[in-house]
Amino acid sequence: MTFSRHVKIAPSILSADFANFGQEIQAIEAQGADWVHVDVMDGHFVPNLTFGPPAVKAFRPHVNTVMDVHLMITPVDPYIDAYAEAGADILTAHQEAGPHIHRTLQAIRGAGMKAGVALNPATPAEAISHLLDLTDLVCVMTVNPGFGGQRFIDMTQKIRTLREMIGDRPIHIEIDGGVDPTTAPLVVDAGADVLVAGSAVFRGGSVDKPEVYGENIAAIRRAAEGARIAA
Ligand code: DX5
Ligand code: ZN
Repeated sequence: MTFSRHVKIAPSILSADFANFGQEIQAIEAQGADWVHVDVMDGHFVPNLTFGPPAVKAFRPHVNTVMDVHLMITPVDPYIDAYAEAGADILTAHQEAGPHIHRTLQAIRGAGMKAGVALNPATPAEAISHLLDLTDLVCVMTVNPGFGGQRFIDMTQKIRTLREMIGDRPIHIEIDGGVDPTTAPLVVDAGADVLVAGSAVFRGGSVDKPEVYGENIAAIRRAAEGARIAA
């Protein structure tokens, strides 16, 4: 994975058809997805429960781009090896998931994956100032985690601060929650390069109508790249 800051669209399969994950993953990649965002929820760190390592392992053969696994779980450390074995390319843990995020990021990289740290809306950018050399991706939550289809919470000031802190380090700024053609330009203008989108990609489409996914992805990308040109 060579580092670049060009805009990437990472559809979240939380909004996909839970009875057809393999087909849905193939469909979004065929329709232009740059990464596949996989939302793992434990019903404890967040009030929702999705899937664990066996499911992520089953998704792997269908993913030809990047499997970007977002852990909304606590604790994280006991499961790192299982997600490495399942084939996660990027494994993102929440800064709020426990007292030792520094050790968690070391362990994620030690298991051979790119290390991501996610910040809930209430967590300031400065929370990662001692983690910059251990991080490959910062995931800025623009909703309170647990569900798709929620309203966007404006975090553009936090994104600008992070962009300053990161400088030219090869660290992605990923935005997660409520991203659509209206909010995408705001966060890209502030410095983001990876846009997670669930409902804005899957709405109106299906495994029988995957072209709708392509139209939705293209609309987000067009809006985002418009912000880059305007910058
Ligand atoms: C929320 C998840 C997000 C969510 C995005 O806890 O981390 O990835 O699936 O869904 P939308 O784009 O619909 O807000
Ligand atoms: Zn997510």
